[in-house]
Amino acid sequence: MKKFSVLFVCLGNICRSPSAEAVLRHLLTQSDRKLETIVKIDSAGIDAFHEGQSPDSRAQHAAKNRGYDLSGIRARKITQQDFDRYDLILAMDRQVMSHLQDICPVDKACRLTLFMSFCVHSEDLDIPDPYYGGREGFERVLDLIEAASEGLIRAVEQQTITPHLKKTGRTRRPA
Ligand code: 4NP
Repeated sequence: MKKFSVLFVCLGNICRSPSAEAVLRHLLTQSDRKLETIVKIDSAGIDAFHEGQSPDSRAQHAAKNRGYDLSGIRARKITQQDFDRYDLILAMDRQVMSHLQDICPVDKACRLTLFMSFCVHSEDLDIPDPYYGGREGFERVLDLIEAASEGLIRAVEQQTITPHLKKTGRTRRPA
């Protein structure tokens, strides 16, 4: 199976995208087909507010209760090189997607999509920002990430990632 790389992107890279990074990494190690050696995973934020920081303690706590370890992840801002380095760049909500569309080179726009587009059982497009809310927001984030990760893993196993991107990828919006 061909190797490929995935970058999760949210606003601050301390709640949703590091959670997605840890959940997908964990689920890949549980798959029958040793997918963790095939998929490279990272995360980033569109802002640098929290650069170098550990994930939010509430995100770490909620994830730990489900067996996911976020402790080694440090926040960073997305760079232009990321659009070259990652085959698949997954936005956690439509606001992040819109920002990525604005800064992504036109020839790499097919690499962008909403993470929730892999979740076949849900109409939701966004993984809502939990930062200013309560504990239940962090649980909801994990529920959605787990569901979308299952869809993503199925797409990896069935090698349907490229058609998926052709269907959902966008080009840079007109100025
Ligand atoms: P994230 O959540 O984008 O899921 O990491 C947020 C983290 C920090 C802020 C907003 C959202 N903030 O405004 O500092």
